[in-house]
Amino acid sequence: MPVLIKNGTIVTACDTYKADVLIENEKIVEIGMDIKRDDCETIDASQKYLIPGGIDVHTHLNLHSGTVVAKDDFYTGTVAAACGGTTSIVDHMGFGPEGCSLKHQVDVYHGYADGNAVIDYGFHGVIQHINDNILSEMEYIVEGEGISSFKIYLTYDFKLSDEEVLKTLARLKELNGITTVHPENDGAIRYLKESYVKAGKLSPIYHALSRPVECEAEAINRMINLASLAGDAPLYIVHLSCSLGLDYIKLAVDRGQRVIAETCPQYLLLDEERYKEPFNNGLKYIMSPPLREKKNQEELWKGIRDGYIKVVATDHCPFDFGVEKQLGKGDFTKCPNGAPGIETRMPLMFSEGVSKKRISINKFVEVTSTNPAKIFGLYPNKGSIEAGFDADIVLIDPDKEVNLTKAMLHENVDYTPYEGMTLRGYPVLTMVRGKVIVKDNVFIGQKGYGKYMKRSKVFLENI
Ligand code: URP
Ligand code: ZN
Ligand code: ZN
Repeated sequence: MPVLIKNGTIVTACDTYKADVLIENEKIVEIGMDIKRDDCETIDASQKYLIPGGIDVHTHLNLHSGTVVAKDDFYTGTVAAACGGTTSIVDHMGFGPEGCSLKHQVDVYHGYADGNAVIDYGFHGVIQHINDNILSEMEYIVEGEGISSFKIYLTYDFKLSDEEVLKTLARLKELNGITTVHPENDGAIRYLKESYVKAGKLSPIYHALSRPVECEAEAINRMINLASLAGDAPLYIVHLSCSLGLDYIKLAVDRGQRVIAETCPQYLLLDEERYKEPFNNGLKYIMSPPLREKKNQEELWKGIRDGYIKVVATDHCPFDFGVEKQLGKGDFTKCPNGAPGIETRMPLMFSEGVSKKRISINKFVEVTSTNPAKIFGLYPNKGSIEAGFDADIVLIDPDKEVNLTKAMLHENVDYTPYEGMTLRGYPVLTMVRGKVIVKDNVFIGQKGYGKYMKRSKVFLENI
């Protein structure tokens, strides 16, 4: 049955206006003033904003990391995402066995997601090593599997050498794909970590001190220069946490280089004092890059306002505080890295961004939905409310006050880093391709409703 959303205020990356929205066969078919139809299910959106569903392009569902597995799988994680106003994700595949093909991980991830996800989903490829087979296989993964972005790491087990990085950048440019990077200087981190461990400095704050901003900024700068050397290959920096890294990004963007930056709510709202919380609570915030000194936060918000940071994603990678995180009790180096955030991104960005007037509501839509869709080959199906787009729509009540607690969230993990925060503005309805799957924080959708999104190639001209 067609659906008619009446009396709401539509928000896109560039407009805010009152209109009705008619939906048929999963698509938005008409937007107009006072649409009259008597064959529709009607949703009254008075006093609500209609925004394009959130697109979270940095999640780690089902991630296998050493001996532990991230707590959310493609069912629980996407239920939580939907309850928080996110209607699509692009998940970062974890590493496969050493030497495996690219297709190996694609198959593993379809095994995790197909029949489980409740919202639409895609994958970023992962490059663990480079040789002629991998370079040639990339073409099939981009064209045949619809995976036009790949992640590389400059630290962790499968870090790439500069030569491998250059080969990846150049090949993906050739294929109209994009390289995304976890930028941290591995050698410097190892040196610092070793010296703290030798000195018996093992509490959570030493996680942050062993990965200082210089480690991240150096790696960002290195990647920018390698991307330039590769013929201005498009480059996407994930989870930017600090203003020093942002400075290098600004320099490159002002020179006209195609460098795109993503940050996450944790770097905008939490700071490194959290590592000093009593009762080992600091373990909850062990993630890489780590939380930074508070002064970075305003610079990151400004980076969003000024258009240097184009995406806010989550890096959702949850481990229970009571179980997996306790591995780091007494030694921060043993703590699995990552924190939850898939459900809280949209509410936090609305409340702390829009309601607190740090960003406009249009900028909110741009960085949480429109830009991610454009950068990662989902536009013009996803990322806006316009005729012809998928009917992925979220209703936000701007006046709803919510006290954020673990108890009200759906993430399959025993804590939220945002416990006790009072938010103003919260999603009250989530629709994916015309179907309401969340109403008033209750999931009413179906396991397996989510569709795999084959993504198109990357064209950054209109970002
Ligand atoms: O600490 C983090 N961020 N864990 C998830 C993996 C990554 O580095 O993105
Ligand atoms: Zn990372
Ligand atoms: Zn990540």
